[in-house]
Amino acid sequence: MIEVLNLKKRFKTGDEEVDAVGDISFKIEQGELVCIVGQSGSGKTTLMNLLGGLDKPTGGQIEIDGQDIAKLNDHQLIKYRANKIGFIFQSYNLIPNLSALENVMIAMETTHKPKLNRKQRAVQLLREVGIDESQMKRKPSKLSGGQQQRVAVARALANKPRLILADEPTGNLDGATGDKVFELLKSLSYKEKTTIIVVTHDNSISEKSDRVIKIKDGKIIK
Ligand SMILES: Nc1ncnc2c1ncn2[C@@H]1O[C@H](COP(=O)(O)OP(=O)(O)OP(=O)(O)O)[C@@H](O)[C@H]1O
Ligand SMILES: [Mg+2]
Repeated sequence: MIEVLNLKKRFKTGDEEVDAVGDISFKIEQGELVCIVGQSGSGKTTLMNLLGGLDKPTGGQIEIDGQDIAKLNDHQLIKYRANKIGFIFQSYNLIPNLSALENVMIAMETTHKPKLNRKQRAVQLLREVGIDESQMKRKPSKLSGGQQQRVAVARALANKPRLILADEPTGNLDGATGDKVFELLKSLSYKEKTTIIVVTHDNSISEKSDRVIKIKDGKIIK
């Protein structure tokens, strides 16, 4: 379970201060699929970065399975991100000079599993997301946008994360392909009871989630 309490993030640039996240509290049950919606600049990415341990809050608590990640040091955060979180980004963020298969395998490097096991799991995940053997060998630039995003989904699932954070995962895809990627995420996560938080501008996607959190100027309005 995720419990966010009075979470705040203030950015300072020069003498300007922005409360990108201003006193937010919410709870998300394990296995829930939640969409976060809101206008550009409302604080969605900032909130995702805080939940994923990519950035530190100015105040408040983020309890994930009873552990306050706001209190972790940098070394502990690296472990937290690698073992508990799967990230999916709008721009896929695959490593360009690695094949699809290697992109999934590299996510498991910190687990110290033997290479053969990592390869087997990567192949299995890629098959599940609909990437075939010939596509697995290709570098990201030789795959379509939808295929690259499916590789990114497989990578996010590699370490069986408790939480998947997806920041506009369908933003660069056409409607039908975006729906497929979302359905994939949904079905894979339900099987493993993974919590999923998706930032999206797409109503057809937020409609299919368990719950929608709407934010405006760093605050929850609905
Ligand atoms: N590193 C930073 N330094 C200073 N201000 C920042 C920083 N990151 C974000 N902000 C500001 O915080 C606010 C929230 O930004 P954020 O990126 O979270 O918005 P968003 O909801 O993800 O927007 P979009 O839909 O355009 O991606 C904005 O006003 C932004 O300018
Ligand atoms: Mg954003």
